[in-house]
Amino acid sequence: MAPPNPPPRRTQPHHQALPARGLNPVLCIIVALILLGLLVGLAILITYLTLRPKRLVYTVEAASVQDFAIAKDDHISAKFNYVIKSYNPEKHVSVKYHSMRISTAHHNQSVAHKEIPAFKQHPKNDTRIETQLVSHNVALSKFNAKDLRDETTKGVIEMEVYITARVSYKTWILRSRRRTLKAVCTPVMIDVKSNSLNGFQRVLCRTRL
Ligand SMILES: *[C@@H]1O[C@H](CO)[C@@H](O)[C@H](O)[C@H]1NC(C)=O
Ligand SMILES: *[C@@H]1O[C@H](CO)[C@@H](O)[C@H](O)[C@H]1NC(C)=O
Repeated sequence: MAPPNPPPRRTQPHHQALPARGLNPVLCIIVALILLGLLVGLAILITYLTLRPKRLVYTVEAASVQDFAIAKDDHISAKFNYVIKSYNPEKHVSVKYHSMRISTAHHNQSVAHKEIPAFKQHPKNDTRIETQLVSHNVALSKFNAKDLRDETTKGVIEMEVYITARVSYKTWILRSRRRTLKAVCTPVMIDVKSNSLNGFQRVLCRTRL
């Protein structure tokens, strides 16, 4: 025990000098680790914001139908007018719609669809999409035609609206890859007797990314 003690005492001046010189690499490593941690944190935050934004919100604000007819051979012709509101709830993320397709169906049987031109939605933006989907002599199943005739007699038809879009998100300078978004809005109750929108019940769509 005794022999090892004296040498450290003698080398103490060196040891005192060493920490001063050794502090720089240690400090550098600490600073580097902190910076790395910050960068990783930032990368995670950006990825989170870019890839996992809040769900976009869609509602059907208004719906009406014109020139509605079901022929004897169970073919439907109609012009469906929809006002769809798309809301981006994000504070820092803008959304680019590369394409959007809106279709309308009765009991899951699509009767009309339309492509919406590409558009961009800034944070917190509300965009109204007013569109007309035209059915021109579209064949319905026997069951569906009968059901739709019954609904027409009662004055209100029950439709579904489907939205399929290719979207990407952008925060600062980073853009996510394109993803497919789907929304289903149901039941959209349309008064076939009048063109009036009075009493239309707005429909909140269910979305899936
Ligand atoms: C038809 O639509 C309903 C919702 O309106 C859904 O639950 C059901 O899975 C759909 N069926 C098919 C075959 O897509
Ligand atoms: C949302 O953006 C569209 C087009 O970018 C614009 O026409 C509309 O006025 C905006 N809505 C709001 C509520 O800022």
